[in-house]
Amino acid sequence: MNSQTSITSLLFILLFILLPSSTAYFSQYVIPDCNFNNNTYTENSEYQHMLKDLLKRLNISTPGAGYSTAISYSVNRTNDVHGLAMCRGDLELPQGCSPCIQHAINEIGKLCPYMKNAAVFYDHCYLYYGNETFKGPDKMVGNHTLRYNINNITKVNREKFYKVREKLFSELFVEATNGTSSPKFFAIGEDSVSSDLSVFGLLQCIPDLATKQCKTCLDYHVKDLPEYAGFSAGFLSIGYSCFLRYENKLFYTKPTQPPSPPPEI
Ligand SMILES: *[C@@H]1O[C@H](CO)[C@@H](O)[C@H](O)[C@H]1NC(C)=O
Ligand SMILES: *[C@@H]1O[C@H](CO)[C@@H](O)[C@H](O)[C@H]1NC(C)=O
Ligand SMILES: *[C@@H]1O[C@H](CO)[C@@H](O)[C@H](O)[C@H]1NC(C)=O
Ligand SMILES: *[C@@H]1O[C@H](CO)[C@@H](O)[C@H](O)[C@H]1NC(C)=O
Ligand SMILES: *[C@@H]1O[C@H](CO)[C@@H](O)[C@H](O)[C@H]1NC(C)=O
Ligand SMILES: *[C@@H]1O[C@H](CO)[C@@H](O)[C@H](O)[C@H]1NC(C)=O
Ligand SMILES: *[C@@H]1O[C@H](CO)[C@@H](O)[C@H](O)[C@H]1NC(C)=O
Repeated sequence: MNSQTSITSLLFILLFILLPSSTAYFSQYVIPDCNFNNNTYTENSEYQHMLKDLLKRLNISTPGAGYSTAISYSVNRTNDVHGLAMCRGDLELPQGCSPCIQHAINEIGKLCPYMKNAAVFYDHCYLYYGNETFKGPDKMVGNHTLRYNINNITKVNREKFYKVREKLFSELFVEATNGTSSPKFFAIGEDSVSSDLSVFGLLQCIPDLATKQCKTCLDYHVKDLPEYAGFSAGFLSIGYSCFLRYENKLFYTKPTQPPSPPPEI
């Protein structure tokens, strides 16, 4: 599919406009995806009204829950709008996610004007709406992956970097999918390559997949790391229903340590 090519070039344009110098690499990013297909709706159509209503409901339900879905039913059921929004799993809810969701619902119509299907991915949240549902094993991965690199790490540590990254993501994969993570299907972690280089990684699936589907989805992104991430110091791989990210800087909020138990008397 050549939509991937155009997405890639769009992302490169965004890279140069948006790359901040002092914060985490992807923190200022807005990655719109308007290219699901070219179906459009018109001003004042039933679809537009339903979409507005859908986004309002996602705006209310997502920040507290971290994830929510909604459907607006059309009168004759041939034009329903589906939507979902998800917060990055480490954020404190609702306050850590609410600004992102509000921003996303305000911007998506400008980023993808009149598109019947659209998505936008930000540092803190992800939003999709469309007349097509995309959940399901056949649509989860492939054909629609957005990938995004930043500069390579310096040569010295490359081999070790590769190994550390691979090990980190195999651990995060287990952590995200073995049923213990909170929120569901989420893992963050770091490992160090050298005294001045660490890898900070994150994996997350939308929580209403089956475990097996989440595994398939994450596996797809993880196994592509050598090919697509190479020696990049940071990488984002975004699919329909899961995503992978790493950087050489801390970009997520570490969980606060539970208070140590009182000493036994
Ligand atoms: C949508 O239209 C654009 C421009 O006409 C084209 O480049 C793109 O490939 C189309 N996308 C799909 C999914 O058909
Ligand atoms: C979505 O809308 C397009 C036309 O805009 C239509 O061709 C397609 O069948 C619709 N999809 C569903 C699942 O209704
Ligand atoms: C989204 O929710 C916030 C409050 O949480 C509200 O201030 C804002 O107006 C809402 N936006 C829309 C478009 O409903
Ligand atoms: C269903 O509604 C859509 C838009 O409101 C309209 O374009 C379409 O013709 C309707 N289909 C039927 C079968 O009534
Ligand atoms: C990608 O698209 C091709 C052709 O449209 C299809 O045969 C294939 O199953 C799709 N792959 C995935 C993973 O959806
Ligand atoms: C990173 O290194 C690969 C080969 O190792 C090279 O193809 C690529 O252009 C480099 N990327 C940057 C941003 O320097
Ligand atoms: C799941 O993974 C976590 C983190 O790696 C580990 O602590 C836990 O024991 C695992 N649980 C099961 C049931 O495998």
